Amino acid sequence: MSNLMPHPGRSIQLLPGPTPVPERILAAMCRDVLDHRGPVFQELGLSVLKEMQTVFRTKDPVIIYASSGTGAWEAAIVNTLSPGDRVLTIEGGHFAAMWTGMARDFGLIPDVIPTDWRTGPDPQKIAEHLAKDKEHAIKAVFVVHNETSTGVRGAIAKVREAMDAVGHPALLMVDAVSSLAGMDYRHDEWGVDVSVSGSQKGLMLPPGLAFTAISERARAATETAKMPRYYWSWTKMLAQNKEGYFPFTPATGLLHGLAESIAMLKEEGFDNVFARHERNAEAVRRAVCAWGLDVWCLDPESYSPAVTAVGMPEGHDATAFRKLVYERFDVALAMGLGKLAGKVFRIGHLGSVNDVTLLGGLTAIERALAIAKVPHSSGGVAAAMDYLG
Ligand SMILES: Cc1ncc(COP(=O)(O)O)c(C=O)c1O
Repeated sequence: MSNLMPHPGRSIQLLPGPTPVPERILAAMCRDVLDHRGPVFQELGLSVLKEMQTVFRTKDPVIIYASSGTGAWEAAIVNTLSPGDRVLTIEGGHFAAMWTGMARDFGLIPDVIPTDWRTGPDPQKIAEHLAKDKEHAIKAVFVVHNETSTGVRGAIAKVREAMDAVGHPALLMVDAVSSLAGMDYRHDEWGVDVSVSGSQKGLMLPPGLAFTAISERARAATETAKMPRYYWSWTKMLAQNKEGYFPFTPATGLLHGLAESIAMLKEEGFDNVFARHERNAEAVRRAVCAWGLDVWCLDPESYSPAVTAVGMPEGHDATAFRKLVYERFDVALAMGLGKLAGKVFRIGHLGSVNDVTLLGGLTAIERALAIAKVPHSSGGVAAAMDYLG
């Protein structure tokens, strides 16, 4: 039983996923369950599979699993790699570290380039590492585009350039879980082989769908990959997707929601959606700086438009602070993960977030800083409001 006081009014969720689900999407999902082998479903299937190519900016096929984002990552591994293969992972945060762990669990041998968890993947280091692999034993490079645990966005185009500069043929696999539909993402132009994402972030849906865009080279790799796979088999999925169907029961309700989400994104315009995220992120950073707290990401070029991690002053526990904000103000912030647990709290500004929601959340934080006697200056909300104009 929860011992939380009931809160009147709406709660505010400033999380980098799950993000708020707009009424229009909720309404679109309130439909009778479809016969997923029938013609009405077929139309929906063909339409969302095609539209997702626009979202990923690709001509490659996109597949959709009933799963969270991690499932699509597992699929990327088992469809392209074999036990004993070497992979290169750039460990820039908690989610990147998860993929390294997953690689090990599948019997892959990860070479790990660590970072300080405050800056993005260094293309120079990637190039140097790959240049040493004369035998081309490294079969894939794993990179997280938007590291949700640190608020650092990596430059995927530069990672591709680094790989090309040394002529290394490894597959480039990118975690776009918390970036897709919240910031510019270009599967084709950046030469990504496998892009992986989830529904509960920029697409403004509940959790439950995972997406994968798959290049021709990655599809070809399935022919030699020896990992066992069944549910995750791209081949099975792609064969049926051609006709708009799925090999296993699809999450039909979420697919209705997805169609609505894409319609909303197109109505707003992708560039406007991205600009809104950049603007919200800047407003949050202005508040954090006015409070005198640390924006965790050290490189302005890498500031995430989706989430800002905030360093807590010494002697103050970020997890306890987050709990206070939640219990007192009904505002959900995200916690520090992995080695940042207790050190940072994270403000999500991803998905369907407007000025007023953002300012409401920042107000709760400013009040909670005072209640918790965290050393800070007031004026963060005012700074954000000034910026938002
Ligand atoms: C960057 C990133 N990768 C992977 C994941 C894991 O995705 P899921 O929880 O949907 O499996 C998350 C979840 O927040 C994430 O932010």
